Amino acid sequence: MILTKLLLKEFRNYDNLELNFDKKINIFIGNNAQGKTNILESIYVLALTKSHRTNKDTYLIKQNSLFTKVIGDIEDDNKITNYEVLINNEGKRVSINGNPLKKVSEYLSRINAIMFCPDDLEIIKGTPLNRRSFFNVEISGLNNDYVRYLSDYNKILKTRNEYLKTTDKIDTNYFSILTDKIIDLNIKIYKERISFVNKINKYIKDIYKNITGKNNIEVKYDSFIDEEELEDDLIFQLQRKYEGVFNNELFQKVTLLGIHKDDFSIYIDGVKINNFGSQGQHRVSILCLKLAEIEIYRKEYNKQPILLLDDIFSELDKNKKSNIIKYIENNLQVFITSTDLDNINKKIVKNADIFIVEEGKVTRGEQNGRK
Ligand SMILES: Nc1ncnc2c1ncn2[C@@H]1O[C@H](COP(=O)(O)OP(=O)(O)O)[C@@H](O)[C@H]1O
Ligand SMILES: [Mg+2]
Repeated sequence: MILTKLLLKEFRNYDNLELNFDKKINIFIGNNAQGKTNILESIYVLALTKSHRTNKDTYLIKQNSLFTKVIGDIEDDNKITNYEVLINNEGKRVSINGNPLKKVSEYLSRINAIMFCPDDLEIIKGTPLNRRSFFNVEISGLNNDYVRYLSDYNKILKTRNEYLKTTDKIDTNYFSILTDKIIDLNIKIYKERISFVNKINKYIKDIYKNITGKNNIEVKYDSFIDEEELEDDLIFQLQRKYEGVFNNELFQKVTLLGIHKDDFSIYIDGVKINNFGSQGQHRVSILCLKLAEIEIYRKEYNKQPILLLDDIFSELDKNKKSNIIKYIENNLQVFITSTDLDNINKKIVKNADIFIVEEGKVTRGEQNGRK
């Protein structure tokens, strides 16, 4: 999968930007606060319709503008598809090949992009919400069923909470219909999350071993659901759990159980590193988690994701850099930002197109990476 053309209108500090990409490796060079990350962010928005660094879509709109548009051509299997994300104060609209889609959920899971950035540490150090959002976004990138399950889950959760909040005398028949529905979606989402974490674990150990020489890393999904072999047993288990909290839910007027409260954690040598690990352990495990995702795309889905590497080369030691570079050399399209070309391996620079970013303007650097 290759992004061949990117068009930005009123995005962050860009008025109008058109970039054509001829090469697999593309490097954006510039001082701080010039707009390098904004370009990678726009590619992420094109893929996932939202930013990797803010939940407020309107922040993406250039100051004093009314809307922003990100448009891109993606080449996949020798076919070019045009994608468009428009964001304004009322929300967002998405189109494929000029045809507007009714729902954003229909747009997702088509463009595969993986972002590596310094903020990734939040996935480990942040709150369960940070981690859930991360896993939700990553699974959504792979699996459109998951997108629908999540959106249905959120709707039924909202209905159930509103019913609890606004009704004095609960109609137990109606309430048990809502509960059955939420149980069904809990199980669907639980299974997809388990399956994703299993896939991560299938690859992350070897990757971790390559980098650190050890293979004792594991990602765990901490759910309120206890693992069961049979679907019927799961339904029964969840009915029991919801019955158990029924009185408390009536009292607190809110849904107390569900996958919207689950969490993920990373274990090294059997110890959960979220609270205890060193900064170095956090960094390397996030790196491995993302490299494992690339393997999932390639080996399980036969897809070549686009890599977005935001300012990560300055922080990584040689060994970790060379592990990422291995993937770049594997012919994936990659967009790299850096303040300094010296941070990037010479061989990579030699094969790259260089773009110089200055105050929301982009110019092409000379061939062979010389400015
Ligand atoms: N919505 C916006 N409208 C106008 N400018 C913005 C907006 N959001 C961010 N910026 C500007 O973008 C610049 C930061 O861009 P960024 O891509 O993060 O820089 P860097 O080159 O360091 O990666 C800052 O100058 C900031 O003021
Ligand atoms: Mg930046």
